[in-house]
Amino acid sequence: LHKQQPPLKIAGYAHWKGQVLTAEELNVLYEGIKLNNVNHYDYILTGYTRDTSFLETVVDIVQELKRLNPKLVYVCDPVMGDQGSMYVPENILPVYKDKVVAVADILTPNQFEAELLTGRTISTEKDALDVMELLHQMGPDTVVLTSTDLTSPHGDQFLVALGSQKMVRTDGSKSTQKIRIEMPKVDAVFVGTGDLFTAMLLAWSHHHPNDLKAACEKTVSVLHHVIKRTITYANEMAGPGKRPNPAQLELRMVQSKKDIEDPDIVVEATIL
Ligand code: ATP
Ligand code: MG
Ligand code: NA
Ligand code: MG
Repeated sequence: LHKQQPPLKIAGYAHWKGQVLTAEELNVLYEGIKLNNVNHYDYILTGYTRDTSFLETVVDIVQELKRLNPKLVYVCDPVMGDQGSMYVPENILPVYKDKVVAVADILTPNQFEAELLTGRTISTEKDALDVMELLHQMGPDTVVLTSTDLTSPHGDQFLVALGSQKMVRTDGSKSTQKIRIEMPKVDAVFVGTGDLFTAMLLAWSHHHPNDLKAACEKTVSVLHHVIKRTITYANEMAGPGKRPNPAQLELRMVQSKKDIEDPDIVVEATIL
């Protein structure tokens, strides 16, 4: 959370309440965790952050936790904006660029965030693959562009996501798995789908650490089931011919428990 009233796009709601955790308060919480010797983690996930010193503290903590567990996987969703505009202060970008991405193992920018981090524009799939390569060079072995404006080979009714994973084969040589995932677009704006994507990618990467295709197929299948259940319910609530409002479009997470735990695979990724 953050100090100023955020743009509607990110909060997703007309009203916003609550407090902002400062870098100092985060440090105090972490001190408490350390005192109890419960600072051994396998995964860390971070998302929407507006404050540079808070984000720098996150990096310090991630580095310390990685020293305690060298296998720790840090999943970073570098939430900064969408569709060409930033919804965090601009001074957060250099912190992601120079400090955060370097310690991330899995990075889940959308197209705009990937462009910000690399200073490149993405107009073609080739551009996107180049940008993911640049992001690998900055740190993370796994990069997923969670949504792009690229045209799907299956037509403009599909949303394209792209992924790239660096791996070391058993013989020590290196390889990269690159994939394209297409999913049917739904004509509505959802809140929390970016967070759900990153959370599911963490969970399914745990089960498929060296198979980004499998992890992404399960991730996007979960998104599909949750979105489908949500839009079906929202349309029902809104009534015939009416567009659902944001309250009706709240993600049907609890109702989707079974799909989240064990999704039917409805999306097949293409190996590039
Ligand atoms: P972040 O918000 O973390 O920066 P993002 O902008 O990619 O990332 P979303 O735009 O919410 O986040 O997209 C994440 C995923 O949610 C997409 O990969 C897609 O699976 C799903 N999704 C979101 N909106 C729609 C939609 N209108 N129709 C179909 N799928 C959608
Ligand atoms: Mg988006
Ligand atoms: Na994302
Ligand atoms: Mg988002």
